[in-house]
Amino acid sequence: MANVVIVGTQWGDEGKGKVVDLLTNYADYVVRFQGGNNAGHTLVVEGKQYIFHLIPSGILYENKKCMIGNGVVIDPAILLSEMNELTEAGLPVSPERLTISQNAHLIMPYHKLLDGASESAKKDGTKIGTTGRGIGPCYGDKILRSGIKAGDILDESLFREKLRENIDEKNFLLTTKYGAKPISFDEILAAYLDHAEILAPYIGNVSVELDRARKAGKHILFEGAQGTQLDVDHGTYPFVTSSNTISGNACTGSGFGPSHIDQVIGILKAYTTRVGEGPFPSELFDETGEALQKKGGEFGATTGRKRRCGWLDAVVANEAVRLNGITGLAITKLDVLSGEKSLKTAVSYEVDGKRYEAMPGNIRTTARLKPVYEEMPGWQEDISKARNIDDLPAKARDYIKRIEELTETPTTLLSVGPGREETILLRNPFEK
Ligand code: IMP
Repeated sequence: MANVVIVGTQWGDEGKGKVVDLLTNYADYVVRFQGGNNAGHTLVVEGKQYIFHLIPSGILYENKKCMIGNGVVIDPAILLSEMNELTEAGLPVSPERLTISQNAHLIMPYHKLLDGASESAKKDGTKIGTTGRGIGPCYGDKILRSGIKAGDILDESLFREKLRENIDEKNFLLTTKYGAKPISFDEILAAYLDHAEILAPYIGNVSVELDRARKAGKHILFEGAQGTQLDVDHGTYPFVTSSNTISGNACTGSGFGPSHIDQVIGILKAYTTRVGEGPFPSELFDETGEALQKKGGEFGATTGRKRRCGWLDAVVANEAVRLNGITGLAITKLDVLSGEKSLKTAVSYEVDGKRYEAMPGNIRTTARLKPVYEEMPGWQEDISKARNIDDLPAKARDYIKRIEELTETPTTLLSVGPGREETILLRNPFEK
């Protein structure tokens, strides 16, 4: 048995969905441990497209158990709509297939309103560019100890009491600070009690279930959302999401002991993208950036926003290797680089004559970082038919080899196209 964590190494959208889908094949359990419906991944199975924001894509496999850990923030209406969509597609979700942690916090309607209101109130240059899904305000309440957990809606009197306190406070904020309309206690109470009725059989103790699975020798896959540079502690704060996106949170966010994790796979897109605001040292503002955006189909799966594009950044990759304890890289979208005359990789940064090998702590300095590039010749061939490392042109192999040298990390998997089969699997992380 092996337990494997998958994380994004950049600013999210590295192509985790496809890698998670592939590795789910070898897993018995698939666990989300942070984030919420700010994430989104697109999967095409038997010609039908699915976009999941909350439910692990493992739900598409009949014999896999999916878990939503305590570290996730859940918008129950979104969860229920994903469950309905699956049922309509002939893949009904049942409590045997999905457990929701009783300790996961719920996104409430006022979180979404506050997310939007606080972004609108910010001046240009300080806006985060959030997905508007209420993620930050929900995690904020969790840390302030006023949040409402999934388990709370199963106890009507506890839920009423917590909701009342929250509504009083949030209405004060909405009306006084943001000049918005107050929200109705009764409407939210009724809607969430309805949700509770449907969700009750799914709400349970994820930590206990995972421990049982581990002892039974099951394979567990922990599916991270977003990416390392969006981590609330270690990313480009404040231009980050509100959760820890790094591998350590696979444990905290699900109630699983760190000594039971065997492998950490870092998903590294062969170039870099970012959605939303915030520093991005290797960003391209020229036709090469535009070409990557078009060729790579770089639009956010949740908001449809165009992703900003740039060269691969080895400083970012190395931060991810260090922070996550990455044991293998899954390098994605290599095919998108085909046809580029030369490829640049940022290997350090410079600002005011000072060299940086890691991200500086000061966000204003981070925003001014100038990348120091290394350049390599690109390859012109279409590589989407490569199924073996030796099928790749020598220049593509050199690019991969250089990434391995710069990060001191071996490659586990290479993705050369969106399809499941467009993959070169070098090592199966579930095999020890
Ligand atoms: P929030 O998570 O909605 O609060 O947004 C905070 C920042 O994280 C914004 O820059 C978002 O664009 C970014 N973000 C959140 N989720 C994702 C994701 O799944 N992929 C890429 N960026 C994300």
